[in-house]
Amino acid sequence: MRQKVVISSKPKKWGVWSIPLLHWHVGLLSAFVLVGMVVVWSIDGSTVQSIQGESWKSRPLVKDFGNGSYSILLQVHPDFDGVYNLTSGSAQLPELRACEASDFERDVWHGRWTRHGKNDHCPIGKDGRYRCLAPDFPCKAPWCDGSLGILESNGWVYSTHCSFKMYSAKSAWNCLKNRWIFFWGDSNHVDTIRNLLNFILDLPEIHSVPRRFDMNFSNPKDPSQTVRITSIFNGHWNETQNYLGLDSLRDEGFQNLVKKYFSEDTVPDTVIMNSGLHDGVHWHTVRAFSIGVNYAASFWADVMKSVKQRGLAWPRVFYRHTIATGGYARSLAFNPNKMEVYNGLLLEKLKEAGVISGVIDNFDMTFPWHFDNRCNDGVHYGRAPSKMKWRDGQIGHQYFVDLMLAHVLLNAQCAR
Ligand SMILES: *[C@@H]1O[C@H](CO)[C@@H](O)[C@H](O)[C@H]1NC(C)=O
Ligand SMILES: *[C@@H]1O[C@H](CO)[C@@H](O)[C@H](O)[C@H]1NC(C)=O
Ligand SMILES: *[C@@H]1O[C@H](CO)[C@@H](O)[C@H](O)[C@H]1NC(C)=O
Ligand SMILES: *[C@@H]1O[C@H](CO)[C@@H](O)[C@H](O)[C@H]1NC(C)=O
Repeated sequence: MRQKVVISSKPKKWGVWSIPLLHWHVGLLSAFVLVGMVVVWSIDGSTVQSIQGESWKSRPLVKDFGNGSYSILLQVHPDFDGVYNLTSGSAQLPELRACEASDFERDVWHGRWTRHGKNDHCPIGKDGRYRCLAPDFPCKAPWCDGSLGILESNGWVYSTHCSFKMYSAKSAWNCLKNRWIFFWGDSNHVDTIRNLLNFILDLPEIHSVPRRFDMNFSNPKDPSQTVRITSIFNGHWNETQNYLGLDSLRDEGFQNLVKKYFSEDTVPDTVIMNSGLHDGVHWHTVRAFSIGVNYAASFWADVMKSVKQRGLAWPRVFYRHTIATGGYARSLAFNPNKMEVYNGLLLEKLKEAGVISGVIDNFDMTFPWHFDNRCNDGVHYGRAPSKMKWRDGQIGHQYFVDLMLAHVLLNAQCAR
């Protein structure tokens, strides 16, 4: 069987560097064939210094002026994403083993999507779902463990420096029972939580969850198993507004709302946080963003300190990298390269503040699917399945990239 693998690669290690302000215009084609070390930075027209390379992954950022003119804003490495042919042995892949708890300590993942099955005549269901392979279609070692069919990906699966377990409802409930998970971040969490409940935890009747909620869910097959999920959208302190990003923490009411959940007799077991696309819109310069980042890092450090002072165990805090925006959204204010930089900065500061215990690189997971809108609506990868006209004109859309993330979240919480 021929296998293909979409490799999403990044530079290994970059030192501390400073970048001169440069800016030039090129055609789109030459933008993508440009190779070599070109370092251009002009998102905010200023010089950026002291950003550790490890938290940087780099691709050309192409700004679309909408008049046939494009400019490269940032390119630090030739982009060698491509389709590799495994059978020809042209791709050197690491030996994969199952992810362990310590595998989530890596800031940046260098993963890939591989394909292990394919149904060429897979109809979309009335409910918008793609049940292309049997639910028990097995994972192929070492690429994943469990059933690949439940991912509804027509054979695709993501792995990184380690490979993931696919959770059945039973194993997922065993993983999450008696736990409390706290989400703080962008609107993609809303979809991921719903997909986790619908697809994995056997709760299809939950059609949506709000941007801000605190709920207990129980296993329909064993009501003694419950999980508490709290989710706070961080795009704005006002629940009905957006695009304030980390500045929402300037609001005392919003601070108190977050703190409240860490001042009960028990505190969340896991926190999953990110900096949303709204930060890309709100903060026009890296310099301005870094002020918001420092503020957020000290806020979270204080929250965690207060937990420790009360003698409670610290939650495990995962930074979940923001998605790579797709299709038409690639050239907007939250374009992938900008968000990658913003994410790297926030992660770095949160780590310095001692807040973060692990990382889930959803930017790496979404990147190979961000060239069009087949798997996203531009800014969300997990919109509910629906047999309706999608953004790209086709009927239905693929939701498996976000479903993969839901399985990765389970791995992060339950791998030993
Ligand atoms: C397109 O717009 C940009 C920004 O306004 C401008 O600098 C550039 O000259 C324009 N290109 C053409 C071909 O009009
Ligand atoms: C992949 O490699 C095999 C073996 O070298 C070759 O027969 C096949 O044509 C290659 N496929 C592609 C798509 O390059
Ligand atoms: C969920 O359960 C926890 C512990 O059992 C309880 O403290 C909390 O009030 C419940 N939350 C809701 C919204 O029912
Ligand atoms: C939140 O914003 C809405 C408008 O979107 C406004 O009507 C409402 O009063 C605001 N709430 C608060 C508490 O300021």
